Amino acid sequence: MRRINLDQIQAGSVLAKTIMTLDGTVLLSCGTELNDEYIKRLQFNGITQIFIEDEISRGIHVPEFIREEIVTEAKQLVRETMVNTSITTSIDGKKVMEVVDKIIESILVNEDIIVTLSDIRSVDDYTFSHSVNVCIYSLVIGIGLGYEGDKLRELGVGSMLHDIGKIRIPQQILKKPGRLTPDEFEEIKKHTLYGYEILKGVEGISMAALFIALGHHERSDGSGYPHHLRKDNIHKAARVVAISDVYDALTSDRVYRKKLMHHEVVDYITSLASHHFDQEIVDTFIRYVAYYPVGTAIILNNGEKGLVSKYNKYFPTRPVVRIVMDEEGKMLPRHKEINLNEKLEYRIVKVWDI
Ligand SMILES: [Fe+2]
Repeated sequence: MRRINLDQIQAGSVLAKTIMTLDGTVLLSCGTELNDEYIKRLQFNGITQIFIEDEISRGIHVPEFIREEIVTEAKQLVRETMVNTSITTSIDGKKVMEVVDKIIESILVNEDIIVTLSDIRSVDDYTFSHSVNVCIYSLVIGIGLGYEGDKLRELGVGSMLHDIGKIRIPQQILKKPGRLTPDEFEEIKKHTLYGYEILKGVEGISMAALFIALGHHERSDGSGYPHHLRKDNIHKAARVVAISDVYDALTSDRVYRKKLMHHEVVDYITSLASHHFDQEIVDTFIRYVAYYPVGTAIILNNGEKGLVSKYNKYFPTRPVVRIVMDEEGKMLPRHKEINLNEKLEYRIVKVWDI
C-alpha cells in the first residue's frame, strides 16, 4: 500500500483504504478499481491524496496510528462545535473530554508511538481535520513529556479547541485563497483572543486550555502574537500546540499551496527550534514523528528508486526500503529490500512522487 497524490493516479489502480465523507458515508470502498468517473468524484470532493495497492507496494503495511472511527467522531464533534457555537449555545466541554479520552486510549494501544496520520481529508474539511490532528500530535508530545491523567486530558481538550476563536472571524477572510491584506491578517490574529474569551465561559474547561487558545501563535523570540510573549512566559501547553499546529499545517494541502513532505517539515521545525519553539518540546516531538513515513517514495544516492517499507524508530533517516527501479528508471524484475541501517553506503537523497 502507498499514498499517492490524486493528480498522479492512473485509472485501474486499486484503492487500499476506504474513503469516507465527514458525515460518515462511504465515498469509495477499499478494493475499488479506480476509473475516470471515480477519480472525478474524488476530485469533486476535494480529495487530494489516496492510498492505493499496486505491484510495487504490495505487502507494504501502512499502520493505522489511531482508530479511524474515533478520528471521524472527533472531526464531527469539532464541526458541530464550530458550526453551532454561538452566543446562545455553548460548547459541550464534557463531550470534548470524552472524545479526547478515546483518542488517548487509542494512542496508548500503539506499541511504538511513531505518529504518522494517514487520514485522507478533503481540502474543505481542513479546519476540522486540522483541529483533530493538532490534538493527536499534542497528546503524543504530552505523553513523551510524561504527562498523564488530567494534565494530559487538558492538553487534549485545549489543542482540539485551539482555533475555536475562528468562529468569530468572517468566512471571507478565513477562506480567502490569496494573500491577506495587513488589516485582514490583524483580524485573523484576533482568533487567539476570541478563543480565550469563548472558552472562559465553558464549564469544565481548564486554564491550560484557555492558555492554549490564547498562546499557540506566540513564539519564543517574541515574534508571535497576540502578546509577543517570550520563552517561559508562554504557557507550556501552548508551546506544545505551537509545534503541532505548524507541523500539521505544513504537511497539509491548502487551497493556496501544496503540502511539504514530512521530513522537510521536521527539518524546518528543528531549524527554528531555538527561535520559535521550545527546544525540549521539539526534541520530544521529533522522537515520535515519522521522518519518512512507510510508503514514501524515495531515491537513493546510487540513483535507485523505491518505497519506504519499514520504519526505523532509532534511526528515522535510515529505514528499510524496497527498491523497485534501477538508476535509469527501469522497473526491476524482482524488488529488493535494503535495510539502510545495515548498508551504510546507501542513503536517501530525495523523496519523490512515483
Ligand atoms: Fe490558530
